[in-house]
Amino acid sequence: MDKFVVRGGNPLKGSIDIGGAKNSALPCLAATLLTSAAVTLHNVPYVKDLITQKRLLEDLGATVLTPALRTHQVTADHIDVFEAPYHLVKTMRASVLALGPLLGRFGQARVSLPGGCAIGTRPIDLHLQAFEKLGAVVSLESGDVVARAPQGGLTGTTIDFEKITVTGTENVMMAAVLARGTTTINNAAEEPEIEDLADLLSKMGARISGAGTPTIVIEGVDELGGAEHTIIPDRIETGTFIVAAAITGGELEIRHCRPDDLRAVIAKLREAGVEIEEKDATTLVARRGPGGLTSRDVTTEPHPNFPTDMQAQYMALMTQAEGTSVITETIFENRFMHASELIRMGADIHFSGNTAVVRGRTPLMGAPIIASDLRASASLVLAVLCAEGETTIDRVYHIDRGYETIVRKLRSLGADIERVRQGIEAATGEMPAIPQPA
Ligand code: EPU
Repeated sequence: MDKFVVRGGNPLKGSIDIGGAKNSALPCLAATLLTSAAVTLHNVPYVKDLITQKRLLEDLGATVLTPALRTHQVTADHIDVFEAPYHLVKTMRASVLALGPLLGRFGQARVSLPGGCAIGTRPIDLHLQAFEKLGAVVSLESGDVVARAPQGGLTGTTIDFEKITVTGTENVMMAAVLARGTTTINNAAEEPEIEDLADLLSKMGARISGAGTPTIVIEGVDELGGAEHTIIPDRIETGTFIVAAAITGGELEIRHCRPDDLRAVIAKLREAGVEIEEKDATTLVARRGPGGLTSRDVTTEPHPNFPTDMQAQYMALMTQAEGTSVITETIFENRFMHASELIRMGADIHFSGNTAVVRGRTPLMGAPIIASDLRASASLVLAVLCAEGETTIDRVYHIDRGYETIVRKLRSLGADIERVRQGIEAATGEMPAIPQPA
């Protein structure tokens, strides 16, 4: 298993380009199953989860061409398998996004029921209840969810989500675009990724309004066609690099991003003393302000509020801020795994239930640490970039799931980080056996 070896202390300086949003590319790739025509997606990030999603589409029978590293052209004209198998679902929960399109277009879908994961139990009961409301019969067979639409397909209805769910909203949108009649989704997720998916579906011929608000209305159509679409920039990668500039005392120009998609993060970081200049609609310049960092409380909530996917990185930053901050995680029940590792490096963090209290500022020292999930890995990388001495981070395969060529990007900004592969040093290496991006 790969490790990162990092010698902290270098302020990061320079310019960095943000890649496409993982959590938008995943549902957009799933949406290509809704038509037999070719759908071309640009700006698909070169990360492991997208490689897994591509593999899933191919296993189902779709043809996936990659004329350029970040462009996928999918033609789902010969789908002959309607199942996302356990070996894929267990490596990536987002495989459940195949359910909606398979059910909507072919009237049948089988997906291995995802178990819990490092950040919580993460059930999909709300997805399944919504499919039932659209007329599907859902059963559990040998650990798989099996959903079947009645003769004549799904029928539009009103779905009132009792809790906001991002992939649940996406799954229902994809199931409903080919349903008979109108579907209204109330208490829908408002994330930018939902809007991006709606944009793609509209280009394919779907009739959707309200995406990005709590109420989405979908008028079913008979069929969808081909489309070409560019995935939005990754707001979490953007936020992670803003924190990287602030925590190392450097200055980064962050290009090809969409500041409007992370207003709550920008506002909170500014309150905490990070200077964030908006050069134009797609470029930010971030640095630690002259007054240093000040502790500020944060609570994670669905968009447009502070995202859970930035909580771990924010906690790393708060270890370097003066004062005490209270961090409350309301989305997932087990998303403080990074805290124990930060404590091993010298952070003063006490947590109970869904609240962590961080007392800063504490110097961080190198220590062997273990990454437990994608965003926890990002938090640990940020922490070690400002730590004294050498740190080894184990199980960094988690970070490959969602951050494109992170070692290469950080090194280009002056970080002293290298990937060590089973004892072989591979200074700029990323994801073995896959061609390097140009
Ligand atoms: N929930 C249920 N039942 C359901 C669905 C969700 O109880 O049927 C609960 C979850 O357990 C959680 C809450 O509702 O407590 C919200 O979960 P949500 O369904 O919104 O999460 P998700 O769709 O599984 C997506 C992202 C996550 C991100 C969350 C929250 C993708 C592929 N994943 O997950 O991204 O943290 O929304 O914003 O879009 C990541 O990128 O690191 C990541 C974990």
